[in-house]
This record gives sequence, C-alpha cells and structure tokens, in this order.
Amino acid sequence: MQRLTLRRPDDWHLHLRDGPILRAVLPYTARVFRRAICMPNLTPPVRTVDQALAYRERILTALPEGLDFEPLMVLYLTDTTPPQEVVRGKATGLIHGVKLYPAGATTNSDAGVTDIARVDRVLAELAEVGLPLLVHGEVTASHVDLFDREAVFIDQVLRPLIARHSGLRVVFEHLTTAEGVAFVQERDDDRVAATLTAHHLLLDRNALFEGGLRPHRYCLPVLKRARHREALLAAATSGDPRFFLGTDSAPHPIGAKESACGCAGMFTAPDALGLYAEAFESAGALDKLEAFASEHGPRWYGMPLNEGRVTLERSPRRVEPVLPMGEEQVVPMRAGGAVQWQVVA
Ligand code: NCD
Ligand code: ZN
Repeated sequence: MQRLTLRRPDDWHLHLRDGPILRAVLPYTARVFRRAICMPNLTPPVRTVDQALAYRERILTALPEGLDFEPLMVLYLTDTTPPQEVVRGKATGLIHGVKLYPAGATTNSDAGVTDIARVDRVLAELAEVGLPLLVHGEVTASHVDLFDREAVFIDQVLRPLIARHSGLRVVFEHLTTAEGVAFVQERDDDRVAATLTAHHLLLDRNALFEGGLRPHRYCLPVLKRARHREALLAAATSGDPRFFLGTDSAPHPIGAKESACGCAGMFTAPDALGLYAEAFESAGALDKLEAFASEHGPRWYGMPLNEGRVTLERSPRRVEPVLPMGEEQVVPMRAGGAVQWQVVA
C-alpha cells in the first residue's frame, strides 16, 4: 500500500508547553490532528479552571491562521484541589479530564499528589460529574525498580482506586507494559482505557543504549524490554476500542536533554502519524490504524468523530537532526534518520 486516507485523527495526550515553545511546536500537531488533550504540567501547573481556560486561549492565539485545531483542557490534580473545581470544570464544557501525577513521577510533577487518599473526595466528585481521571501510572518510591513502577502502581494504587470509586472512568496514559495491557483487557467494560505512544510501539529499552547513551530516547515511563513493546503493539492493532492514540510528544530544549541530568520526554509531533503508521505496518495492521487514531478516542470520551481526512503516503523522508524551537533548538524522534510515511494532505 502506498497511500492511506484516514478520518482526521486526535491526539489524546500531548505536551504543548507555553510561550515561544508553544508557538514553535503547536503547528506540527495542528496541521494533522483536529483535537488534542493538552497536558497541564506547565510551570506553574494548570491547577484551576481559570488557569486552564487562560491556557486554552494562549493555545488558540498561538495557532497559525488557517489551521483548524481544538485544544481539550485538563486540570492538574494536587493534594489540595477542591472537589468544587471539578464541578466548575465540567460546567464549562471545556475541561475534559483531571490528571493525576504522583508527586515526583515525571517532568513538572512536584506539585502532584503525594498520597492518593488525600484526593479521595475529588475522585468521588469526578465519578459523580462524569469526568475521567487521566493517570500517570507509576509509583515513585525510590526502592521500586524504575522498570517495575508501572506494574507496582497497578497493584498498589490503581486496582484499589477503581474498586473504591465504582463510577470513575480512567485513562491509563502512555501505557508501557504487558501488565498494563492485561489490566485494561481483563475488565469486561470500558471503564479503563489507555493511550499508547508511537515511541513505545516502535522502541524497546535497547534503544536507550544503541551504540552509546541516547538522551533523546529517554522518556517517562521509560522504554521497556521487547516483550512489553510487543504486547503494546498487539493491543494497539487488536481493534479493542479501549486503546487509542496519545503521542506524549514532550519537547525539551536540546541542552536540557544533553545534560548531566537530562529531562525525560521525546519530541515526536513532527512525524507522529507517520511513526504510528510504521508501527502498524510492521504488524501487518495498517487497516487498524484509522480506528486507533481517529475513532476509539472520541467514542470513549463521548465526542463526535472528526469530519476531515488526512492522507499518508509511503515515501521515506530524512528527519532533520535538529529543529528550531523559539530561542532554543529541539531534537525530534528519528533525528538524522528516515521516517517511512508522510502526511501529504
Ligand atoms: C513528559 C514531559 O516532558 O512533560 N515527559 C515524558 O517523558 N513523557 C511528562 C510525562 O508525560 O511524563
Ligand atoms: Zn506526557
């Protein structure tokens, strides 16, 4: 197959940042994706409805003329988020979820939740008003091996949380393990869904050390061993509507990555859909890409499917080694290499 036309997709997990970086990275997403869940881990975090609506305006202002893109806003959950904020958020119609970052789990998560028991009333309110909880599913205890943090989170935090709040719907963001896939699949309802990134479908942890240390492939949750990547790819291409596209494109300036203590995050937005197409093609499942990218997400969130179309063409393109990003520079995924599929229309 050389050309593939899909219903216009959405990105259900995206970092757009703010200021000049927002202006630089937004067009890569908005020219392909119609909507995106915009992660709230700014500095300072997007904790309140007013902050989320102001951030939404900044995103719309940064949008180049002629691009049709809708930012979907999320509140950053803290130990002190008032349950009432969830009610207010729902009432605006512009807030689509609340994000749980365990404190210290990832980039800009210091203001996150220190103990899940502290947010019990907010979780009850989410279930009540019908807003989903979007979860960064890793424990943070330093004695837990980095590669086991997702599996431990499932048993210690997520399973009890789901049991305690029977009406709560959860998106397990950027799932990285076979245990996570099994956790979604074992249920006979759709209360738990998951986003999958292109990089976790394409890379395993060997990629972190290929010929030397590769800081631009360091992200959180960290890449896992091959059997996990295989489980994620099988889930993505299975047609199960509880798995959908979320790039977790997370740009950082080159100096913050190539550093003695480098930031986590891969910048995948410039070739996001092409990278997913590569992953699906490798599994002989290009026919499953449209549902994963453009149907499962909106159905789960209860939103209309997009009307537009995008066309991918199989024509390898060399990826720039580095791209400008405001006053900074950023290294995209596959920098210096080639991506096999391009969005051409
Ligand atoms: C994200 C970021 O940079 O904001 N980093 C990452 O490695 N994915 C945060 C996150 O989603 O964990
Ligand atoms: Zn993320």
